[in-house]
Amino acid sequence: MKQAIQINKHMYWVGVHDFNCRHFHGNMFPIEEGTTYNAYLIIDKEITVIDTVEAEFMDIMLERIHSVIGDQKVDNIIVQHAEPDHSGGFMRFMNEYPNAKPYASNAGVQIMLKQYFKDYEYHKVKTLDEISTGDFTLTFIEMPLIHWPDNMMTYVKEAHVLFSNDAFGQHIAGYDLYDDKCGLTKCLAKAKEYYANIVMPYSDRVEKKLNDIAALQLPIQMIAPSHGIIWRTYIKELLEAYMDFATMKAENKVVIVYESIWKHTQDMAEALAEGIGQSGVSVKVFKESQTSGALIMSELLDAKALLVGSGCYNNEPASNISGFLSKLSTCHIKGKKALGFGSYGWFRNTTAQINERLSACGFELLSDQILAQNYTPSTDDLANLTKLGTEIANIIKSED
Ligand code: FEO
Repeated sequence: MKQAIQINKHMYWVGVHDFNCRHFHGNMFPIEEGTTYNAYLIIDKEITVIDTVEAEFMDIMLERIHSVIGDQKVDNIIVQHAEPDHSGGFMRFMNEYPNAKPYASNAGVQIMLKQYFKDYEYHKVKTLDEISTGDFTLTFIEMPLIHWPDNMMTYVKEAHVLFSNDAFGQHIAGYDLYDDKCGLTKCLAKAKEYYANIVMPYSDRVEKKLNDIAALQLPIQMIAPSHGIIWRTYIKELLEAYMDFATMKAENKVVIVYESIWKHTQDMAEALAEGIGQSGVSVKVFKESQTSGALIMSELLDAKALLVGSGCYNNEPASNISGFLSKLSTCHIKGKKALGFGSYGWFRNTTAQINERLSACGFELLSDQILAQNYTPSTDDLANLTKLGTEIANIIKSED
């Protein structure tokens, strides 16, 4: 029988591991070590559960709850987010605990009804609404569009615990449940990857919500998200990092993403990288089709500039580069520069199209030049690209 894990005197982790998950959100977010769907149990005069898990793992969650409360009943279920990774097991939960009172945001109730077609007489809550479970007070804080319209957090005033749902999550799967067990570097890197791939399009809202939470001056001893580890030691570092993510604070770094069949565009990418890297600016070079999209987005989050290259495929960029540009178009990019490049044969509009799409994504173009190379770059062409790389590095460094 699967057991709950106690996280403080009155609270337990009753979540599940999805060790085999390698693609989160369909194939949009490749992940390496699986993930967790975290749910929590609060023992008080009234017993409360925070969130459920994906439907297929619900047996395990129920086993973990039973390991603590046996045959006792659950009084409250807080639906912090209707996305199925946290609500898929909800109806099964309600079959098990039909008298539990479900709480959700207004948007959460609407989505639950549209997803599961059954009205469980939800109690709608909004920011700063409170319920008492006996000794504990649960305060709700809505965070719409971090990541769906319905997300909310739940703060337990007397225990200084913030159940943060998707916010501050990361895809780490293990039994080392805490940040200090996993190490700060890994935890922040995974939080950054999660942010870049899930939350980045909503950065303005994240910045505002972080300021709102700071203004509430809540003492926080533990942040318990719905994916990955629980933060208890590095909360200050996490909140500072999240503000950097939300404002897209950038380092002296350029990310080059390209696609190439006959190596001409690849040679252009590598000539540009030579000039950038030799000038003391960090540069990452990724052939899109051979690189995890999660890694590319994570590296882009704190880069000052992005160079996007593609060969010409019937006067269009490669379809995966087009897809990458489509993804960027949702990200509300702030304060970053960019430029397209690529080799072509008989149609030559691809680079101009890339530049146009980069501009539409919010990037400022680094140059008016159209870096369109007809067939194979010569030694002189490559030398010119390396020189341009040096100039790009100087622009990057001049912003310090
Ligand atoms: Fe982890 Fe937006 O769900």
